[in-house]
Amino acid sequence: MNLLIISASLNPDSKSRLLADEASSALNAKGIAHEELDLRDLPLPLCDGGAAYGDPHVAQASKILGQADGIIVASPIYNYDVNAALKNLIELTGKGAWENKTVAFLNAAGGGSSYMSVMALANSLMLDFRCVIVPRFVYATPADFDAGEISNPRVRERVAECALATAALTKQRCG
Ligand SMILES: Cc1cc2nc3c(=O)[nH]c(=O)nc-3n(C[C@H](O)[C@H](O)[C@H](O)COP(=O)(O)O)c2cc1C
Repeated sequence: MNLLIISASLNPDSKSRLLADEASSALNAKGIAHEELDLRDLPLPLCDGGAAYGDPHVAQASKILGQADGIIVASPIYNYDVNAALKNLIELTGKGAWENKTVAFLNAAGGGSSYMSVMALANSLMLDFRCVIVPRFVYATPADFDAGEISNPRVRERVAECALATAALTKQRCG
C-alpha cells in the first residue's frame, strides 16, 4: 500500500499545510510509510488541455500520484471550492493518476460557512474517476490555529483519525 499526502496551498504561511504535517505525524506515530507532495516544490503550468501536458513537472506529478493507492489532500478553501492549484493538478494529471484511488480531505478555511465546499471536487472524483472518498473530513478555521501551530486539540485528533482511517481503507482496498 502506497500513501501520499498532498499539500496544495501555495501560501508560505499555509494553515492547511499544518494539517498535512499533522497527518504525516499521525502516520509516522503508527509506523505507516507515506510520501509527501507539496505543490510549492513542483511548479505546474496552467492546464490548457494541450501543450501543458508535456511539461516535465506534470510528468513528475503524474508519476508520484500514479504510485499512490491512497491520497490525503490538504487544501485551502477558495471561493467555496478547493484552491485552483489543486484543481489544476487534477486537470493536468487526470484519470490515469487518480482512477480508483482512496481519497481524503483536510481543509483550511477562513470561516465556518464554506464547510461543504469540498463536495464538488469529491463528487467529481467519485463519479469521473471512481475514487472512494474517505467519509471523514477535517475542516479547520483560523480559530483552530495559533502561532503557526494547530491549537485546537480536537482538530489534531480529527486529522489523526482521518489519516489512520485513510490508511486502513486503502490497505483494505489493496487486498
Ligand atoms: C482567494 C481566496 C478565496 C477565499 N475564499 C474562501 C471561501 O470561499 N471560504 C472560506 O471560508 N475562506 C476563504 N478564504 C480563506 C482561506 O480559506 C483561508 O485563508 C485558508 O487558511 C487558506 O488555506 P491555507 O492557509 O492553507 O493557504 C479565501 C482566501 C483566499 C485568498
